Formats: sequence, structure tokens, C-alpha cells
Amino acid sequence: MTTLISRPSAKAVKVMKCALFVAFYEEFVMPSKIHVIFYSTYGHTYALAEAIAQGCREISEVDAEMFQVAETLSSPILEKMGALELRNRFSHVPIADPKKLSEADGIILGSPTRYGGATAQMRAFIDATGSQWVKGELIGKVGAAFTSTASQHGGQETTLLSLATFFLHQGMTFAGVPYSARELLSMEEITGGSPYGASTIAGAKGERVPTSNELAVARAQGRHVANLARKIKAD
Ligand SMILES: Cc1cc2nc3c(=O)[nH]c(=O)nc-3n(C[C@H](O)[C@H](O)[C@H](O)COP(=O)(O)O)c2cc1C
Repeated sequence: MTTLISRPSAKAVKVMKCALFVAFYEEFVMPSKIHVIFYSTYGHTYALAEAIAQGCREISEVDAEMFQVAETLSSPILEKMGALELRNRFSHVPIADPKKLSEADGIILGSPTRYGGATAQMRAFIDATGSQWVKGELIGKVGAAFTSTASQHGGQETTLLSLATFFLHQGMTFAGVPYSARELLSMEEITGGSPYGASTIAGAKGERVPTSNELAVARAQGRHVANLARKIKAD
């Protein structure tokens, strides 16, 4: 008896098996990926980024990668600002590339506060994501933000909320820090950290370092975003 459907060749079967394996691997085996992307002049925002990445990695099957956005200031200017040497502490962190954003299930952006908003360096990175927006590449991913200010009421929440518009325009879900992180409620000390995102207070001369309370909020934010990214990926 003749049949209209011919048997696939051995090569075609091999290709199909390969495609099935890749689809299975991506769906069930490959860890969720979180990109923690920061700008930092003096290192405070970098310290928070480290804690957030650590929190992400506390969740099983989650991998966190850190990136920094490109510096736009010249070395002589950074020298005058007293930042050149401090920036060596995180010079090993690779420069963020908008093209890589599509690889992540969650994207966490951190920027120091400048007049109640994000830095020009972080804005330049955001402005370079037009191609991702046009293609809808980031739709359905999780986004979150963190910041640093010099003073206690220097605009942390405005910076965090101003970054939220980026995620919403990209079709992403904006995540903050849930109150299950009890450190958000601490009245024992002056502290950063809010339901809008992790934060630290650097001090007028940058003399303060992130406290254990602030780092705990940062780790909680990392865990929260990682959990959400895993759930969204599993759907
Ligand atoms: C141009 C400029 C504007 C700033 N605006 C603010 C501000 O609005 N509120 C505030 O508390 N700190 C402000 N700062 C201080 C920075 O937020 C502070 O240096 C930063 O949080 C330290 O983080 P980093 O160590 O990651 O660079 C400003 C600093 C600069 C240079």
C-alpha cells in the first residue's frame, strides 16, 4: 500500500529530537536568570547590587548576573569628584548591553539619586533599549529598582518610582519589596528600604556604608524578584 506521507529522514528525526531537547531544557532545567544592572559613582549602589544578587541566588534554580552601565564622565572629572579610585572596586563588573536584556527573566536596575531621579548614566542605558521596546522583547519579564541618596529624605522613593515607568512601558511587571521583609518596619535606626525598592543612605560626604538592615532589605528584594521570575517562567 502506498502512503502520501513519507517517512522523515534520519537527519530530520535527529533535528526534531534536538529541538525537543532544547525546548525541554529551556522550560524545565535552565535556571531563571536575573540581571542586576547598576550605576554607582562611589560604591554605595554597587554594595546594594551585590546584596540583591546574593538574595536572587538564595532561590534555587535562579542565576543572577551583575552588570554596570557605561560611565559617561571622563577620568579627570571622576578624579575631581573623588570617585576614580573608589570605582576600581567594581571595575571587574561587565558593562551592560541592552541586547542581552532579552536573555533575562528579571531585570533589576539600581541608580544613585540625582535631584530626585535616576542618573544620566542609567537614563542613557534606558534610552538605548528602544529596539527591545519595538520588538516587545521584554514583555512579561519582572522588573525592580534600587537606589542610594546622600540624605534620609533625598528622594529615594521618587527615583524608584521614576524607574518604574521604564518597566511598565516595556510591558514588564514592577516588583518592590514585600512587608514580609520585616526590616522595612525597623524604627530602631535611620534606614533606607521601602516597599518601592531597596535603598541606602550614603551621607553628605559618602561616609556611610549600607547597614545590615538595608542589606537585608536588598537581599529580600533579590529573593522576591527571583521567586516571581521563576513563577512567571513556569507558567
Ligand atoms: C549631581 C548630583 C545630584 C544629587 N542629587 C541628590 C538628591 O537629589 N538627593 C540626595 O539625597 N542625594 C543626591 N546626590 C547624592 C548622591 O545620591 C549620592 O552621592 C549617591 O547616592 C551615592 O551613591 P553611589 O556611591 O552609588 O554613587 C546627588 C549627587 C550628585 C553628584
